[in-house]
Amino acid sequence: MGAVPPLPDPTPVVVLVSGSGTNLQALLDATADPAYGVQVVAVGADRDGTPALDRAERAGIATFVLRVGDFPTRAAWDEALTERVAAASPALVVLAGFMKLTGPAFLARFGGRTLNSHPALSPSFPGMHAPRDALAHGVKITGATLFVVDAGVDTGPIVAQVAVPVRDDDSVDSLHDRIKSSERGMLVEWVGRLARDGHSIDGRRVVTPAQPKEAR
Ligand code: GRF
Repeated sequence: MGAVPPLPDPTPVVVLVSGSGTNLQALLDATADPAYGVQVVAVGADRDGTPALDRAERAGIATFVLRVGDFPTRAAWDEALTERVAAASPALVVLAGFMKLTGPAFLARFGGRTLNSHPALSPSFPGMHAPRDALAHGVKITGATLFVVDAGVDTGPIVAQVAVPVRDDDSVDSLHDRIKSSERGMLVEWVGRLARDGHSIDGRRVVTPAQPKEAR
């Protein structure tokens, strides 16, 4: 069983982003309370000029951008990403709308302590278009899943899930917006819990202490 022991207070976290950054913003807002127990020490992205990077800069957090196209191979990008994240010495890494798969080098260094959020109830609808695929399938309930990243696409051990209703008149955007609203709350709650209390992984199960510490 892999275990992440109790972590420093506040727990240093690197967040990786690609887009609008509303999940990042929710985390940043939560860190304003020292009792939350998390410090975002760096924000990284795979592309320039995104609102997510603007949010990090407004919060005074160090940012970096590593574009896959600037590297000779995907593996070289993965190694550079690993080194850049490692330079910030995080205890946990959070992929918050990061639209790239991390590779073997990254997982060798940060496996078991990298969290990703997916806008569907895993194992349904993995991949880049989960709200579209859920709508097309006609499901009545979908949601979001926080999981520990492994080598697959949205396949890792599940930390938490939240259910969201699908409405008859939903568009992909209206459904994704409703999912994201619940997703942000789940992300904030569980990143805080894992940072304060640690976690272990037993097969496919993510285990957190039965009696979590109150927010510090
Ligand atoms: C989230 O729904 C995330 O799960 C998905 O992309 C969205 C990112 O939203 N991969 P934001 O950039 O945090 O606003």
